[in-house]
Amino acid sequence: LLVDASEASGRPISETMFGIFFEEINHAGAGGLWAELVSNRGFEAGGPNVPSNIDPWSIIGNESSLIVSTDRSSCFDRNKVALRMEVLCDSQGASSCPDDGVGIYNPGFWGMLKLWMLNYASRAVATLAPGRVDGRFIYFICLASGSEVSNLTKFEFMLEAQGTNPNSRLQLTTTRKGLIWFDQVSVMPLDTYKGHGFRNDLVQMLEDLKPQFLRFPGGCFVQGAQLRNAFRWKETIGPWEERPGHFGDVWMYWTDDGLGYFEFLRLAEDLGTLPIWVFNSGISLNEQVDTSSVLPFVQEALDGLEFARGNPNSTWGSLRAAMGHPEPFDLRYVAVGNEDCVKENYRGNYLKFYSAIKRAYPDIKIISNCDGSSQKLDHPADLFDFHFYADDPKNMFSMAHHFDHTSRSGPKAFVSEYAVTTGSLLAALGEAGFLIGLEKNSDVVEMASYAPLFANDNGRNSKFSAIVFNSSHLYGTPSYWMQCLFKESSGATIFNATLQTNSSTNQVEQLLASAISWKNSENENSYLRIKIVNFGTDIVNLKIVVDGLEPNSINLSESTKTVLTSNNPMDENSLNEPKKVIPNRIPLEKGGEDVEVA
Ligand code: AHR
Repeated sequence: LLVDASEASGRPISETMFGIFFEEINHAGAGGLWAELVSNRGFEAGGPNVPSNIDPWSIIGNESSLIVSTDRSSCFDRNKVALRMEVLCDSQGASSCPDDGVGIYNPGFWGMLKLWMLNYASRAVATLAPGRVDGRFIYFICLASGSEVSNLTKFEFMLEAQGTNPNSRLQLTTTRKGLIWFDQVSVMPLDTYKGHGFRNDLVQMLEDLKPQFLRFPGGCFVQGAQLRNAFRWKETIGPWEERPGHFGDVWMYWTDDGLGYFEFLRLAEDLGTLPIWVFNSGISLNEQVDTSSVLPFVQEALDGLEFARGNPNSTWGSLRAAMGHPEPFDLRYVAVGNEDCVKENYRGNYLKFYSAIKRAYPDIKIISNCDGSSQKLDHPADLFDFHFYADDPKNMFSMAHHFDHTSRSGPKAFVSEYAVTTGSLLAALGEAGFLIGLEKNSDVVEMASYAPLFANDNGRNSKFSAIVFNSSHLYGTPSYWMQCLFKESSGATIFNATLQTNSSTNQVEQLLASAISWKNSENENSYLRIKIVNFGTDIVNLKIVVDGLEPNSINLSESTKTVLTSNNPMDENSLNEPKKVIPNRIPLEKGGEDVEVA
């Protein structure tokens, strides 16, 4: 491998090259990255009609001790369903309650890590030990005499975990006869990322990728199968207990939208990345709004921009300020829809969004769903979205050259979703080859992110993802660790790197390589990183010659070699074997056996 590290061969890679894409798929959000522990906290998941399905809540007791039902008596206008609990037993009298009481329990999202117990009758708040406080437990409750419902009252407690058990559940029990309505029952761990509600260990995995942007909230999640089930930002802001939540009918599960537009913008800010907001273009998987009727969607997008960037005294900016963020968010990119280009109304709708947004926010970069990689777009855009999923890792590897012939004069590419659908080491090798191709084409590729980012091991929609978790553990897949090897590429300089061989040409076809350099702002040192992907079955002995550097400018003794491999290319990580395929970093062999500096 010949690396020409001279100034003349260096070209800049986009500052925003590698980032992350979060979608509410695979139960990635609520109960995952979003640390809410109670599933179906408003009892709304069964739909707005009653009787409703309260799943996964379950009943503690039997018909002679309590009757649990749902009704529409909640004081929350946008989520009327509440849980009604008629307790028939009592601590005193003939029909005595069991000592542990009767009531309901919630198992969380396949378990909760910490164990809390609340006995309503004994007013558990009085029994909590002072000292370490582990969770904020909030619920809205109404106690009624007779059958009258009065206003719900908010109760908020700090709960201290008495132990660690990933299969914990939240119990609401009582030993007193009477009527109780519950609604909006939430448990949030106190210790979340920057106190903003995100699960620390999962965010740490994101920080370790050094993402330059955060694309959100989807994906098909933005589209919905039907428009009524699309992600609509206005339904996801304000006090969490007043958010209606919605059924994500593409990935087929309910979300309470505690992780809403505001939370995404704040997460991007906390991670030091640029937010990229994808909004609905008036198109779902199965429906399309006519361009002549799309203006309400355009207005919704403009209002969303005002919410993110507007003056704190503006209509929507004031709501952001009321949520605790008077300063505007640094929102510079929006995508008009997701994978909608194939729909006949897309171009018409897109142009309405484009002109309205450019008029109000000329600096905002607008991303079109139409692919401009093989032919020029027929409409104005700052970037075009490009998605590529491959079942066969080979097809991903050969995509390394896809952007070689893309027009250099049109909008740049945002490869916002790519993945091999198998999750193995071989998948990651195919993806690494593709990313090397993106680095080499960084004059026309501005951004790239893998998809999907997360999967809850108990509730997957896809077999593949970058990070897998359950209520207590997590692991990075080979695709995650592969991305870590590209984390210094954003804003780096890429050099010419040429593979030569005097053996079989087949070997060269199975190899891809790139060389980048960057300056570490903390220690002011410059680094050179050479990445080589061997997608073939043969071991290849490579000699690396680095040309164009000052003599003695490479400190070989402090140089390292990082290898991501395994005995079998089909190996994957799992909760049982989370470290089967992880990078191994070792010192570079002494004596220049691996690298020769010419
Ligand atoms: O990553 C899963 C899905 O694949 C995304 O929601 C969609 O954009 C793509 O088709």
